[in-house]
Parts: sequence; C-alpha cells; structure tokens
Amino acid sequence: MSLMTLEEKVGQLNQLSSDFISTGPITCDGEKQDRVRQGKVGSYLNVTGAARTRSLQEIAMQSRRKIPLLFAQDVIHGYRTIFPIPLAEAASWDLAAIERSARIAASEAAGSGIHWTFAPMVDISRDPRWGRVMEGAGEDTYLGSLIAEARVKGFQGKGLGQVDAIMACAKHFAAYGAAEGGRDYNTTDMSMRRLHEVYLPPFKAAVEAGVSSVMNSFNDINGIPATGNTYLQRTILKGKWNFNGLVVSDWGSIGEMINHGYATDTADAAKRAIIAGSDMDMESRAYVGQLIELVKRKIVPESVIDEAVCRVLNKKFELGLFDDPYRFSDESREKAIWNDPTHLEAARDMAKKSIVLLKNDLVKKLGKPLLPLDVFGSTKIALVGPLVKAISDNNGFWSYSWPDDSVRVVSLWKGVERKFKASKDLIYAKGCELEGADTSGFAAARQAALKSDIVIVSVGESGSMSGEAKSRSEIHLPGIQEQLVKELVATGKPVVVLISAGRPLVFNWIADNVPSIVYTWWLGTEAGNAIADVLFGDHNPSGKLPMTFPRTEGQIPIYYNYFNTGRPFKNDKDFNYVTAYTDLPNSPRYPFGYGLSYTTFEYRNIRLSADTINLGESIKVKVNVTNSGKYVGDEVVQLYIQDVAASLVRPVRELKAFKKVRLMSGETKEVEFLLTEKELSFFQEDLRFAAEPGLFNLFIGGSSHTSVHTSFYAKE
Ligand code: BGC
Repeated sequence: MSLMTLEEKVGQLNQLSSDFISTGPITCDGEKQDRVRQGKVGSYLNVTGAARTRSLQEIAMQSRRKIPLLFAQDVIHGYRTIFPIPLAEAASWDLAAIERSARIAASEAAGSGIHWTFAPMVDISRDPRWGRVMEGAGEDTYLGSLIAEARVKGFQGKGLGQVDAIMACAKHFAAYGAAEGGRDYNTTDMSMRRLHEVYLPPFKAAVEAGVSSVMNSFNDINGIPATGNTYLQRTILKGKWNFNGLVVSDWGSIGEMINHGYATDTADAAKRAIIAGSDMDMESRAYVGQLIELVKRKIVPESVIDEAVCRVLNKKFELGLFDDPYRFSDESREKAIWNDPTHLEAARDMAKKSIVLLKNDLVKKLGKPLLPLDVFGSTKIALVGPLVKAISDNNGFWSYSWPDDSVRVVSLWKGVERKFKASKDLIYAKGCELEGADTSGFAAARQAALKSDIVIVSVGESGSMSGEAKSRSEIHLPGIQEQLVKELVATGKPVVVLISAGRPLVFNWIADNVPSIVYTWWLGTEAGNAIADVLFGDHNPSGKLPMTFPRTEGQIPIYYNYFNTGRPFKNDKDFNYVTAYTDLPNSPRYPFGYGLSYTTFEYRNIRLSADTINLGESIKVKVNVTNSGKYVGDEVVQLYIQDVAASLVRPVRELKAFKKVRLMSGETKEVEFLLTEKELSFFQEDLRFAAEPGLFNLFIGGSSHTSVHTSFYAKE
C-alpha cells in the first residue's frame, strides 16, 4: 500500500457494473476500460465468462500498480445449474445438501471467472409481501443461522486460494427483511433487543463461518441508513464480532443516503459511508469522485481509506490473484465444468428435498390419498395450468438463462412424460395465463380433465413475481388461476394442485377443497424431474415450511415465535376480548415447520436427563419417533422451548434444535438432543446474552404446532 497513490487507493474502493447484465439502475458513464487502465476501479460486478473476465483483467494489468480486479456476481441459487431458490432449499432443513448446492454453484461460477458472489442473503423476514423472501432462509433465526453457515462454507469451500472457492457475502446488513409493510427498500424501526435477537444472529453465524464479505442494506434502521451506520458496521461487525473481511455497499446505497435525507450531497454521503465502515462503493461513484478531495481537506483521515483498501487487497491476495490474475479465467476449466452431470443429480436431489406436501387427504372413493399416484396401464393424466410447460419460470428470480435452457431445464411436462412412459395418455391444457382474466382456455381444460382419470394442475407465480423490487400487497394466486382450479374440481375428477412460487401465497379455496396440494416453489433446472419423483412416489416428500403461511394478507406479519400478550387466544374460535381478528381463525393457514409425508410419524415418551438443572448445566432430551405408515420416510424432528416467565417476555415457542431422521415403515428411533445454557439464553435488557432461572416448557414434533411436550426447571 505504501507504493500506491491516494488516487490508486481510492480506485480500489470503487466497484462498477458492466453493461452486459444489470441488477440495478444503470449508471453508464462510458470509458470504463480507461478507468480500469488508470487504476480507478477495484472491482466489477456483472462481468462473467472466462474470456470476458480475462480480457478485462488484461486491461487492469496495464495499470501502474497492476492490481487485479475482483469479479463479483449474484450467484444466489446456482450459476450454470440452477438450484431451488434459497427459501425452497431452506424447506429441506438439510444443511449438508444446502452446503453442497452452494459448493457446486461456487465451482461453476469460479470456472467462469467469478471471484465473489453476493450471497448468502441471510435476512430474516416475517412478511411474505416482501418479494425478497425468496432469497433467504425464511422467518426463523436459528434455522437461518445454520443455513447461513452452511452456505458460507459451501461457497468458500476449502478456503480462498482454491480455484473453485469464491468469496461469500452475507447480506443485507442489517434488518432489510423487516421493511415496513413488506415494501422493498422501506424503513425499519425496531428495538435493540429485537435487532440483536432476531435479525443479527445469522450475520454473526456467517462471520463465525469465515465469510469474506458483508453487504450493507438499502434501508434505514431507527433513523440511520445502514450504509452510514457506524453502530452496525464498526461497533458490531468490525468491533464486537472482529470481522476482518470487506464491507461492500449495496447498489448505489451510498448515494441514496441523499434521498434518505441523511446526507446533503455526494461528498457528504461518501464521508458518512467510509467513516461508518463501508469499505467498497458499489455503483454510487461517490468514493471515486469524492474521497480524494475529502482526504486532502482533512475531512476524512487517510488512515480510514487505508483500512478499507487493506481489506480489499487482502481478499485479492487470499484469492491468489496477485500470483496469477487470470487463475479463475480459464476457458478449458470453464468448458469442463459446464455440463458436469453430477451437478444435475445434486440439483435434482436438492429440488426433491425442497418440496413440501401441504395436504394429502384420504379420498373416499379410492380409500387412500391421491398421492403418490397410482398409475396402471390405462390411466390417463391431464396436466393442466399455465406453468406445466414453463421453462424459465422454474428458475425463478436471481438466476441465469443459457442458450440451451429449452432442452436443459426440465419442465413439469417433460418430467412427468419421462416417468409416465405412455405419453399418449398424457393430456395437456394450459387453461389460462398466469395473469389476466381470459377464460377462453377453460373449456379445453375441462375437456382434458373429463378425458382423464387424474388431473394435475400447476399454478403459481411467474419467475419474476417474487424477488428484488417485487413486493406485492396481495399475495393470492395471480389472475384467474384459482378459478381454473375450481372449474377442474367441478368436473368431479380427482385433482392434485402444484403451487410454484417464490413466497408463501394465499389460496384458501384450494386449501379447503382440493385433496392433495404440493408446494413446489421454484426448483431450478431439475424442477420437472423432482416434482415427478414426488408425484409418482420415487421420493417421499419431507420438506417443512421455513415460513408461516397466512390465511390472508391481513394477518401479516405472522410468525410462530410471537409473544403471548396479556390476552392470548385459546383456540381458533376464541375472539372474546383476546388478541385476535374477529373475521378469521386465529391460526395461520400452515404453520412454520409444517409439512406432510406419504407416511405418518408418531412422537412418544419425551425423557429428560433431569427435571431440574442448575443454570450452566446441560440437559439431555430423548424422544421416540415411530414411522406408523407404509412408506420409508424422512422426518425433521423439531425441538422448541418456551421460557415461561422472565425479565423480558419471551416467545411462545422458539426452535432450538432439529434432526432429520430416516425411518423404515414400522421403525422406531430414539432421537436425542442436548440443550446447553446457550439455548436457554436470550438478550437481556442491557443486551447481555444470558439465561435466567425458572420454568421451561419443551415441545417436540414435526411442526411448530406440535402438542407433545414436557417441562423442566433451571435453578440459579
Ligand atoms: C441488491 C443486492 C445485489 C446487488 C448487485 C442490489 O440491488 O439489493 O442484493 O447483490 O444489487 O446486483
């Protein structure tokens, strides 16, 4: 650094987007290559491909100090091979599979010249109106923290320096998922206790897992934009947590502090951001335009610039770019990794594990539920709905399209056709579009249903309905899709509904009237194969919801770990001067942690190693789980606790542990958990993390609504 001019240092803090792809408002200013040559750019986002990254890196090598560029990209759920959206993966509760998904994404991206992904998004959110819930792990802090760790490990593999490891980035720091009204970029305002207890732990978990970078967020929090927030970035992240990676702003978020009404002009914004601990400026051009002058005028000390530059250069060293700036831009490696069949197998496995069976009622006529499908030689299936033949909608938001998508991405139609060999007995009707009110396709859809024995309807959101800037005030099935389902049910044929979406949707009529419902999110390249595996029983679904599904938008925010209030409701019909809405049941449509299987599980005999422990001691919990149905199945055994009375009110339940177990039909397994003082602790009024003596209730089961429970005392 001592060899660098101030201009060169400031250049390292400047990140620009290419014009190839854009993930924010374009700010073209031409002549970008000249800037690279002059050492005025430290990093690029949205430049991909071994050839393109190499040619831009060659220009960087013409700069005076020959400092390589960092190439960043939003590799959110796969790159060449698209995996399920992160919210869907979270439904698997399978940390090893999630880590592998990130590992594969990293290896494909690294093969394409990318050094750095802007993932994982670890924002907790309790509001499905917020379009970006698709990008996170849902509403729960404990599950979200474990998934944050798994994803960081996956992206960074054996560590920076390996050519298949890329820098991960925990985003968006912080509380972006708490945007008021679920409206993207909106204000957040919350108590310190809630910030520390609910929103910060997944970031801390990412830091502890060695995450290389953190991105700050667009929102203001308690009146201060996160980008200019010293408490968040210096006191907590770089201070208390000792984070030594780099902090990048979000797209234009330094300049946007002027809109917030926090900075008077670009110079003021640059000053506030760098002082607060934002090291790199993504696309505001505030640093490159203002910091030199700010240092010369002694408004910003050069030592502050040096600290930020050091964080950037360290990552470039760790990645090995000073030894070989082209080590990620290798066309032969890119080619080799492009069509690795093991990646597709992993994507299919992840997709199957992400699917959630919401309903599978007994059909009287059949004497059994509709799923798994029972098909004989003569069975005819109608596949109806606007998503049956969809390709790119399976990939969802934050994914890439490739020229061979039409053959590589497996549509529902293709997946079912492959499995159900007698394709002549597969009948297709689109029925309607995803949006709009055109019912002209209904007649053909009814005809298709009438000619078949089973009707499978595929409805949901298009791949761009959930994602950044995709907040919706109404999260019902868009258009007339619910009406299409009603038409099909009216034919009297047995109907299975598949719902593909990037968020929890509201679909009450379907939930009440259709016997079998499968939530398939956006599952990526292997979507059709994975759904067919579930429909035909080659895979027994085991996904569990990582977010509560509301009955209506009016229940939002809705989450399982709420506080009891002084007037809790007792049941769904209890409205008498208790905390409730008078016009709907008190429960959600589907609770957090919920998901069915083709088999059934029973929980019995919770045993504790002690009824009373001293604070500081651990307690062992055992429970017997039996597969009481006909099929082999995986169950996510979930453990929740409630601190019954404390110095601050505590949630009615909090997830503290889970295990995914496989059980043969008829098999019983003893599942064991260990609770330590950490699991009993919470953030006290002074933000100390500590446990308090008293009574704890403990619940174990297959969802957050389980009634299997016991209790124990913790003594001082
Ligand atoms: C998003 C970030 C993303 C960045 C770069 C922003 O609009 O909020 O999550 O990483 O763009 O594409």
